[in-house]
Amino acid sequence: MNNFEYKNPTKILFGKNQIENLTNEIPKNAKILMLYGGGSIKKNGIYEQVKKAISNFEVIEFGGIPANPEYAVLMDALKVIKEENITFLLAVGGGSVIDGTKFLSAAALFEGETPWDILSKNIRSLKGLPFGTVLTLPATGSEMNSGAVITRAETKEKLAMGGPGLFPVFSVLDPEVVKSIPQRQIANGLADAFTHVLEQYMTYPVNAKLQDRFAESILQTLIEVAPAILKDTSDYNAAANFMWSCTMALNGLIQQGVPSDWAIHMIGHELTALYGIDHARTLAIIARSHYTLNFEDKKEKLAQYAERVWNVTEGTKEEKAKAGIEKTTAFFQSLGIKTNLSDYTESYEGTAQQISKRFEERGWKGLGEHGKVTPSDVEKIVEMSY
Ligand code: NZQ
Ligand code: ZN
Repeated sequence: MNNFEYKNPTKILFGKNQIENLTNEIPKNAKILMLYGGGSIKKNGIYEQVKKAISNFEVIEFGGIPANPEYAVLMDALKVIKEENITFLLAVGGGSVIDGTKFLSAAALFEGETPWDILSKNIRSLKGLPFGTVLTLPATGSEMNSGAVITRAETKEKLAMGGPGLFPVFSVLDPEVVKSIPQRQIANGLADAFTHVLEQYMTYPVNAKLQDRFAESILQTLIEVAPAILKDTSDYNAAANFMWSCTMALNGLIQQGVPSDWAIHMIGHELTALYGIDHARTLAIIARSHYTLNFEDKKEKLAQYAERVWNVTEGTKEEKAKAGIEKTTAFFQSLGIKTNLSDYTESYEGTAQQISKRFEERGWKGLGEHGKVTPSDVEKIVEMSY
């Protein structure tokens, strides 16, 4: 097992009616900017619940943060933060609203030239304006980690940022919010969380037995609850297990002491930036080709995964590992997610070269757990996903 340091300061308030308790978590006399997305919270009652819970505070609202949070929109919110001397941010939404809020948390205290530098120059945020979240969509784990991904439509870029100053102070996880989530987003949440675990697991063995079993148990739980939550989003037990699995998949716990990959995400972000494909779906497009191209490096863990998660007992190590890749693709498809790039766009010719060129230009010359997935490998991976 590798050395590690682990600290996660986010307080979780989990369960029914926890939104009411928001008021106890926000500093007294805070001036709040409440941030939300395109309006789902106004249709499902979450907006009223939150407003009631924070009625003792001075609150300004900023709605309209789009899925794949857009830099230009966030810059409007940043103006409000500065003009109104906001002291606390409250994100009410899914990964996009929470990520947008993290960017604002960092940008509010940023002293450099332009906040875009935080993304383009990959500046880590050691301190941010404090913020809390009310999660409305289980998927990203953003509610309990310190990372964010921001999109800039103008240049078709989607870049990651983060740092120890960007953990939420608290996150409210009420599984009842799942009721109103459309099927497409439920499927996305399942696939995203599943891939988060894979990115931190499908590498090479380092004898981290507990981390492996944590990871495998999250995968098994997602596989078990997927049909139930897709069938009935008001099934509270399924929603609760789905929600907590998504949080645990990316709150840092399973990645301690083990190598991690993240190439699927880095390539996937380009597909969202270029074509607007939902984040989770880009992962389902890339995973199979990435694992196939890097089979030799990953076969030990692929075989272990096939055995322990999918009960594949027959065959050689290689055969089991291949079965692991097939089971993963079949799982995405069982959620109603298509797994080829050509299922999403007709104009995909040249995409592989374009992405590989971008990686080359950014100096991203070695992705993956061994740092050896080159831009030319990325080109092959994307091409294999057509
Ligand atoms: O905008 P509104 O109207 O609220 O609608 C949203 C949005 O259209 C809707 N929705 C959310 N909660 C709902 C609901 N609809 C009905 N009922 C509810 N309770 O769902 C749509 C998608 O929301 P979004 O926040 O975009 O989805 P998700 O949570 O999947 O977030 C995706 C973003 O997170 C980033 C992705 O790249 C993408 O930009 N990620 C963030 C990560 C992180 N910070 O750790 C890690 C991930 O790998 C990922 O990259
Ligand atoms: Zn993801």
